[in-house]
Amino acid sequence: MKPIGVFDSGVGGLTVVKELIRQLPGEDIIYFGDTARVPYGIKSKETVIRFSIENILFLLKQEVKLICIACNTVSSVALPLIKSHFRVPIVGVISPGVREAVYATQNKRIGVIGTRGTIESRTYENEIKQLDPSIKVTAVACPLFVPFAEEGWLAGSEVLSVAKKYLKPLNAARVDTVILGCTHYPLLKPVIKKALGKQVTLIDSAKQVAVEVKKILVTEGPLNTGRRRAKHKFYVSDNTKWFSAVAERFLGMPLSNVEKVNV
Ligand code: DGL
Repeated sequence: MKPIGVFDSGVGGLTVVKELIRQLPGEDIIYFGDTARVPYGIKSKETVIRFSIENILFLLKQEVKLICIACNTVSSVALPLIKSHFRVPIVGVISPGVREAVYATQNKRIGVIGTRGTIESRTYENEIKQLDPSIKVTAVACPLFVPFAEEGWLAGSEVLSVAKKYLKPLNAARVDTVILGCTHYPLLKPVIKKALGKQVTLIDSAKQVAVEVKKILVTEGPLNTGRRRAKHKFYVSDNTKWFSAVAERFLGMPLSNVEKVNV
């Protein structure tokens, strides 16, 4: 049975892998984290597109049956332009999160947070408006959240004060739903919630992404429901030691089987 391919600019996509393993326990997964070139969130559109194509070609060489782009920056900046060039099904993280947020909002005010690249692309905003043009979207970039999550600074006064500053426009706009539009942000959920207030619903698209992957495998096949132990293999483009150390926090379990490759 062919594996599912997943890639991200680095370690953050493991928050999506965690959900894929939970919902699709029979599936083999090959993950690629482009740790040599991370972060993507501050790079130009042309560069993100080039890196994304290279990452997809690497996964196709591993004979994956479906590719999940577990990176919000790639999903918003590159995916709309490159998707039609490949025959393999490609699932991004934007649409599943958008659908959930549009369903969740009561007051039709949605906040979106992500990297600079994701916010500047306006992909979230456009997709929300396509589903419901009456929704008001307030989007802000929170670039410092990425190093905080990687360093394991998930609570404490420093991160809370940064969160309060970043999220001020969302509070001012009185959003009732906020999309965590970056792979790293689910780790900071408690502090983000504290800065926004308990009444705000946070949308973490990972669950819905796994639902979408499952749906595609059910219809286009094959879905591996076997009871055997699934294989999970992790590739990175730099420093396996750093990746393995940080990965556990994102994946929620220790990880072995990490190999360095050049793409
Ligand atoms: N994985 C990226 C994202 O979800 C965050 C890290 C980066 O900037 O590369 O947007």
